[in-house]
Amino acid sequence: MWLSDVTVARRRGRRREDSRLADHVDRLGEEHPPIPLGSVDYSMKKPGLMAERFGPVLAYMTRVELEVERNVLELNILLPDPPEVDRHFYADVWMPQETRHGQILDKLQHLIGVQPHEPNLADVSFSLKFLGALGRMPGVQDVSRMLYYLTGLATERSAVIAYNKFHAGLVGLGERAIAATVIAPIRRQEPGHFAYYQMAAQQLWDQLSGWQKWLTRELRKRTFEVVGAYNKRQVADFGNVMEALKMSDGGEAELREYARQVGRAEHELMWAHRQGMRVPDYVFKSLKRAAVLAAERKGDIWPAAQPAGS
Ligand SMILES: [Fe+2]
Ligand SMILES: [Fe+2]
Repeated sequence: MWLSDVTVARRRGRRREDSRLADHVDRLGEEHPPIPLGSVDYSMKKPGLMAERFGPVLAYMTRVELEVERNVLELNILLPDPPEVDRHFYADVWMPQETRHGQILDKLQHLIGVQPHEPNLADVSFSLKFLGALGRMPGVQDVSRMLYYLTGLATERSAVIAYNKFHAGLVGLGERAIAATVIAPIRRQEPGHFAYYQMAAQQLWDQLSGWQKWLTRELRKRTFEVVGAYNKRQVADFGNVMEALKMSDGGEAELREYARQVGRAEHELMWAHRQGMRVPDYVFKSLKRAAVLAAERKGDIWPAAQPAGS
């Protein structure tokens, strides 16, 4: 009797959580339709200066936003049998919003003459197909789903941080129309995505068994990469983004703080029980690699040597 009571209570709890998640997705869809193209004011003061200062940021963010088209193909492989709430989120709410972000940014980069980064819209990597095949084994698909939520958390957090800095930089240049009608509306839609992954991750983590949690941690440590980087060139490109947004010129201490922000949600979920591990080190290492590769590509060393006595 007692055991079945516990099971019933647990099931009810789960249903409550599911409906909370479903309500969140419905609300996101209702309150945040794709940004109307007609609402964007592309008037600019000094497009050339904007391109010079923020070209690497614009090109990078445009590519990442447009590549959600491929991300959805990847999700179909990774999660052949997703919970309805996930499918509803990524197909009906997330993809239309992000695709529109990409279209708006793409138009801006063309207007100011930034060389676009070629988006990969359809080519799914071997390692992802492999993980998809493994997902047919009992229990592994839950690990894949957990990794999807964790990637979402870090990606959305990185996007919010980048858009905040980008917005401030544009205001600093006096480009108020672009800041207010391009970046601000895009930035407003990202926290809802973060909240979705956070709720979904917490809920799933509580359901995983010991080996599933272990496998999730191990795979996460080994596969973490900065947002939108799938090869060495793109990692270096991300280093350029950090440089343009002045996120990496303060050396390792500044990058550790940035890593803390990007990794905080997964840290609290998966690692907080381990004393002394304040920031997931793999997040910091990836950011540092990006900063180093970007500097190397220019023939520099990162961090730039500080003047003696400073
Ligand atoms: Fe976005
Ligand atoms: Fe997003």
